[in-house]
Amino acid sequence: MKVILIGVLAVLFCGLCILAVPAEGQKSVVIVYGSRYGSTARTAEWIAEGMAGKAVLVAAKEAGDLSGYEKVVLGSGIYGDMLHADMLSFLEKRGDEVRGKLLALFVVCGAPPDYASGYLEKFAARCGAKPQFARAFGGWMKKELLSPEDFKGLEGYYKSVNQPYENYDRTDKAKCLEFARLLLGMNCPEK
Ligand SMILES: Cc1cc2nc3c(=O)[nH]c(=O)nc-3n(C[C@H](O)[C@H](O)[C@H](O)COP(=O)(O)O)c2cc1C
Repeated sequence: MKVILIGVLAVLFCGLCILAVPAEGQKSVVIVYGSRYGSTARTAEWIAEGMAGKAVLVAAKEAGDLSGYEKVVLGSGIYGDMLHADMLSFLEKRGDEVRGKLLALFVVCGAPPDYASGYLEKFAARCGAKPQFARAFGGWMKKELLSPEDFKGLEGYYKSVNQPYENYDRTDKAKCLEFARLLLGMNCPEK
């Protein structure tokens, strides 16, 4: 009787272990992003593409149950030195869920990398966790996409710093794919 019980328990335990390990091809990483004008969404798509089918993408506003994912990558555009509002509210409501699974953070912005490292530090502080990897990517400015409010705000900003208010596209697919490879390697030290 005791032997049968131990056998049943062993079978149950193995079953649970099999369920807990993601099957081949199953998505084990979720990339949650906040994007106002598309460049952060595009960056997230390229990172997912580089993760060889292991990652799934979800906008912060639409993030459902994340318990089935082993690791979480968070990405946000930067507006007026702040994270995207959807990312801020995601972290406020769901921060506890992702803290222990945080693999990487990335920001997409107009500032040069040195300055942008400050955004990554603020992002990590908001998460309450230090990610294994963090990276700032260049984004794009497409004036034709901007809301009238953002258009005016940026016009005023560029005037105040005496710089031309012009479109740019600093997105770089190769850099996103390289970052994705780093995430897949997981044991590689951050550059
Ligand atoms: C209203 C507004 C404010 C911005 N403020 C900043 C800023 O404070 N620092 C910065 O580096 N980039 C700033 N940017 C540039 C954006 O971070 C950049 O365009 C980024 O690619 C936006 O991501 P998205 O296309 O996903 O919205 C700002 C852009 C907009 C539209």
